[in-house]
Amino acid sequence: MEFQKVLESRRSIRSYDASKSVTEEQVNEIVKAATLAPSWKNSETARYYCILCPEKCSEFAKECLPQFNINNSAGAALIVSTFVSGNAGFDVSSGTPVNECGDGWGYYDLGLHNEIFLLKAKEMGLDTLVMGIRNSDIIRDKLDIPCDETIVSVIALGYAAKEAVMPQRKEVSDILKFCN
Ligand SMILES: Cc1cc2nc3c(=O)[nH]c(=O)nc-3n(C[C@H](O)[C@H](O)[C@H](O)COP(=O)(O)O)c2cc1C
Repeated sequence: MEFQKVLESRRSIRSYDASKSVTEEQVNEIVKAATLAPSWKNSETARYYCILCPEKCSEFAKECLPQFNINNSAGAALIVSTFVSGNAGFDVSSGTPVNECGDGWGYYDLGLHNEIFLLKAKEMGLDTLVMGIRNSDIIRDKLDIPCDETIVSVIALGYAAKEAVMPQRKEVSDILKFCN
């Protein structure tokens, strides 16, 4: 798919076709693409935890997501995205933040990885939903995620059962200022 078409056709999908399953090979290909993202000193602190089994996804969703996100993601695979804290944006020898953003750079780098994740999925004919509303304590416990990782989003990955309309976007002039 042409890049511009991928950008324009990606939508947050809140209804998935449970009869079409996502494979381990597809997730590998998507995460491989995500590793091409730039990161702070190439630190690559993004991490992914993937649940493919439909029964396990339902169980995970029930325990870790609010009801509206359980409904939104039903029928999709679920991928938790995290980053290794205190690394990107930190001086290796002293362990102190290089500037005021601190772990903000870990979030930044994970966002770059995740954007590629979403776009690669779309290019492969899959759909996604980023869910920031989730219970990170229960997720950590359930998936045994190390305490040095910050849990950020849960991404639903599957096949849309219903298309979605693009919410209105700002004009370029609303967000861009030339400072010559
Ligand atoms: C960081 C982040 C957190 C989000 N959390 C949720 C969520 O918990 N539940 C949900 O239904 N949508 C969530 N969304 C989806 C946004 O609502 C959606 O991206 C936005 O409305 C724009 O629509 P589009 O993705 O179709 O372009 C989230 C998106 C982002 C980037």
